[in-house]
Amino acid sequence: MDLYGRDLLTTQDWSFDELMTALELATKMKRDRFNPRWMKVLEGRTFFMFFYNPSVRTRQSFECAATELGGHAQYLTPETMRLKTAATAGETIEDAAKVMSRYAAGIGIRILEDKVTRYGEGWELIKEYAYWATIPVSSMADDRFHPYQGLADIMGWAEWFGEGPGRPNFEALRGKKLLLTWAHGALARSWCSVQEALLIASRFGMHITLAYPEGYDLDPEVIGWVKANCAANKADFEIIHDPEAGYEGAHVVYSRNWMSPQAYEGGVFRKQEEIQKALQYPQWIVTAEKMARTDNAIFSHPMPVDRGHEVTDDVASGPRSAIYDIAENRLHVQKAVMALTMGNL
Ligand code: CP
Repeated sequence: MDLYGRDLLTTQDWSFDELMTALELATKMKRDRFNPRWMKVLEGRTFFMFFYNPSVRTRQSFECAATELGGHAQYLTPETMRLKTAATAGETIEDAAKVMSRYAAGIGIRILEDKVTRYGEGWELIKEYAYWATIPVSSMADDRFHPYQGLADIMGWAEWFGEGPGRPNFEALRGKKLLLTWAHGALARSWCSVQEALLIASRFGMHITLAYPEGYDLDPEVIGWVKANCAANKADFEIIHDPEAGYEGAHVVYSRNWMSPQAYEGGVFRKQEEIQKALQYPQWIVTAEKMARTDNAIFSHPMPVDRGHEVTDDVASGPRSAIYDIAENRLHVQKAVMALTMGNL
């Protein structure tokens, strides 16, 4: 399958076979991480990592990925690029994307939370880069999607229901139940990770229970795609508003705080209001007592974890926590996608 030159803005844009091509290569790369054959895949090539927001996993794993493929990852921020914005004169996205395409093999962009003034603005910026660039553009997390996180999630779950690290069984996920639950917290997070997790879980035939307090609806268009994916895979989808329900029969419990649809009222990110509102729901937290009601579920979270709010320490660091395996998988899925879309395999 030829994926050379393809953008990755959400996993929903790729066919199931294309996703499996990336995941199978990621598995090979994980099992045989430092094989010299991978070291020539990006030899002499540069990947631009353009960050509007900070990161631990994304920056570090992309930089390691480029190194392990024999290439280089260059860290860029808007402050270093003199770009045109609503408030300042500067270079247009058309000019920046066309020039960046003359230098690098690919561009990754992260734009989240306080760097946008309305939901969807970050996604639109990445789509505009993808429109003008002649090299692959991918989202390293925007306000709608986080495709590499979704790939790492599904690989991690398939490893836990397969034969362990580097030995995933993707077919085993079909018919398993994912409980994806909102959690209270002090970070007022974007919707990208949870929306991407819902999209990819539904592509792989998982039953989904989505739990959140009234007033925390996600993007209705994305939820429509999730429902359609579930229907195509004969999987169930339900939304509940009870912090205690949904655990029975769950195989994967995923918790995450996310902002409400009112977060950008007035054209600014109302972070403090969102945090104060979220902290009024202390019962929305994953605990060992709740996990005990599941079908021996694993705990999943894209990280960074807001411990004590989104999940208790004993669950986050417990024997059924998949968080570090999934964080590690960011490296492997990114290597695979970079190799397939911009490399010399
Ligand atoms: N999960 C994730 O994207 O982590 P970072 O924000 O640390 O990159």
